[in-house]
Formats: sequence, structure tokens, C-alpha cells
Amino acid sequence: MSEFKIVINGNTETVNVAEDTPLLWVLRDHLQLTGTKFGCGIAQCGACTVHLEGIPVRSCQIQVGAIGDQKITTIEGLSENGDHPVQKAWLELDVPQCGYCQAGQIMSAAALLKTNPNPTDADIDAAMNGNICRCGTYKRIKAAIKSAAVNS
Ligand code: FES
Ligand code: FES
Repeated sequence: MSEFKIVINGNTETVNVAEDTPLLWVLRDHLQLTGTKFGCGIAQCGACTVHLEGIPVRSCQIQVGAIGDQKITTIEGLSENGDHPVQKAWLELDVPQCGYCQAGQIMSAAALLKTNPNPTDADIDAAMNGNICRCGTYKRIKAAIKSAAVNS
């Protein structure tokens, strides 16, 4: 066990964990940031997606000891009041079904629009390819990303 200070959603948090503890477990079990979901644990589903310095990453694959002072954003910190353009578009188009994958989907979509404010269908497919939805909400996800692109 070691002490790590990590910057999450603008706050510096201190956790006592083994250095190879996945960030996902730190978020969920130590900081009660449970919006980020565990799906597969092997980088195959995207449910655990967060931003590391603005880049979408799979938090199940990031060891806490490798984070240093890089800033992490989770779904809880994406916007103050759930009013990020992607979150608003998700609500308007009623995207989620069971909801389990959706935090990861939103984090991937938000990262895409930050670097590419007007993505083509191919851009969206490429960026969202690693986010699996067992409920098959892909059509609504794509429509919501296009709506958010227009409104952001
Ligand atoms: S839980 Fe991390 S990619 Fe599936
Ligand atoms: S909404 Fe159910 S897994 Fe995506």
C-alpha cells in the first residue's frame, strides 16, 4: 500500500492503495465515484471510460501509480449541472436504455467533439468503436452526437 494524490474533477484526492490498483477501482471503491462502470476489465467494452488530460482512456487499464499529476475527469465532473452539450443531447434524444454503458459513451463522445467539433459519420464510428452497448442504442448515440455537434 502507498499513498497517492490524484487530481479528479478538479479536486486533489488522497488514496491508500497498491500502485497497480486500476483507476476504475479507485474511483468506484475508494472515492465513491460510481458513475464510471465496470464492464469487462480487459479494455473491450468502454464502460469505464474517463478522460486523462482530456483524452478518453479505459480506467480499468490505468494503474494508479502511473497517473502522477495528470488530471482525470469522470462523468461526475464532465459538467457542473449535467448540462454539457453531449449530456443535453442524450436527454433530448432519450438515448439510454438500461443505461449501463452510457457514462462511457458520453465520455467518449465528449472527447470526440472537443477535438473534432463537426465529426463525419466515419469519425463518429471510429471514435465510438470501442464503446459497446448491449442494448443496441448505437443509432440514437450517433444522432445525439450530431445534435450535440450542432449545438455546442
Ligand atoms: S471495464 Fe474497462 S473497457 Fe470494459
Ligand atoms: S444502454 Fe444498456 S448497455 Fe447501453
